[in-house]
Amino acid sequence: MTDKTTMRILSGIQPSGVLHIGNYFGMMRPAIALQAEGEALYFIADYHALTSVRDPEVLRTNSRRVALDFLACGLDPQRATLFRHSDVPQVTELAWILSTVAPMGLLERAHSYKDKLARGMAATVGLFNYPVLMAADILIYDSDVVPVGKDQKQHIEMTRDLAVKMNETFGQIFKLPEARIQPATETVPGIDGQKMSKSYGNNIDIFGDEKETRKRVMSIVTDSTPIEAPKDLERSTIVELYSLFASKDELANMCDRFKKGGTGYGDFKKELFQKLWEYFTPMRKRREEILRDKSYIDNVLARGAERANEIAHEVMQRVRKAVGLR
Ligand code: ADP
Ligand code: TRP
Repeated sequence: MTDKTTMRILSGIQPSGVLHIGNYFGMMRPAIALQAEGEALYFIADYHALTSVRDPEVLRTNSRRVALDFLACGLDPQRATLFRHSDVPQVTELAWILSTVAPMGLLERAHSYKDKLARGMAATVGLFNYPVLMAADILIYDSDVVPVGKDQKQHIEMTRDLAVKMNETFGQIFKLPEARIQPATETVPGIDGQKMSKSYGNNIDIFGDEKETRKRVMSIVTDSTPIEAPKDLERSTIVELYSLFASKDELANMCDRFKKGGTGYGDFKKELFQKLWEYFTPMRKRREEILRDKSYIDNVLARGAERANEIAHEVMQRVRKAVGLR
């Protein structure tokens, strides 16, 4: 275990769409909490997003929006480094070097790749290599801890496998990073009860407008238990989402009323919407403030790129020397 002063924390998020509350509780909130515990580096994974986004304007707009939303949610640029993945192009060099030791079998076992094909994405080499680029993202900053949701667990295990392979082949080059997954929020359900995801269309966005957000909450799928009857608490999406926003007492109160009967799902959904909307109110305010300062985001990203390049450059010199380049 590394001590507090040197612990390096890293995570990335793809600008492949608009951020939702699954992203917030699974990755952003834990990442924001960790920024006080060491050197934190968080990036907008635009190289990764190229595997699915084909419109350059959309990629640019989404990347800025992810930066804005992350800052609005509490990422503090005085404490953490926020940068664009593509501002550190050396990471693609490391990905190439890692790919020369990466066993095909390891990549063929990737759940995320198989899921993406099952959802109709084309089997490109980039999509297949995604975990190798992700390993490079992590290893190029000598990262210790990687806060992510549960769906990324296998990718971090693959990163460790690749680091071990490199160390066995070329001598001690890389640290072995650890995934940091919050058990209570490892998989936030979407409005259909499946894992919330931009690509499943079941998302509730962090900064959606009021009408749309209410509509999304009101369309949470439930069973057809009548108003008077007791309701099943087990795997109730309403209760699961409410627990993210409510105090212990508020949650216990809702659970009691679920068990007692006499309250319809519609009313519970209204309570959930209210809590959710209140929860993000200060962040919406902060977001408006940031938007008023036209150069704020660019300045943060420029400073972030500088710091990220400093570290990446140092680690790449070590890697190049170890493998015999130059
Ligand atoms: P999406 O599935 O919506 O495309 P990403 O793959 O961009 O989301 O995920 C970004 C980060 O948010 C990752 O760390 C991921 O684990 C986390 N995350 C995404 N969806 C959820 C969810 N429903 N519950 C918990 N964490 C999530
Ligand atoms: N694969 C991650 C996702 O889809 C994003 C990501 C890219 C990432 N590189 C990373 C996360 C490095 C953590 C560390 O959510």
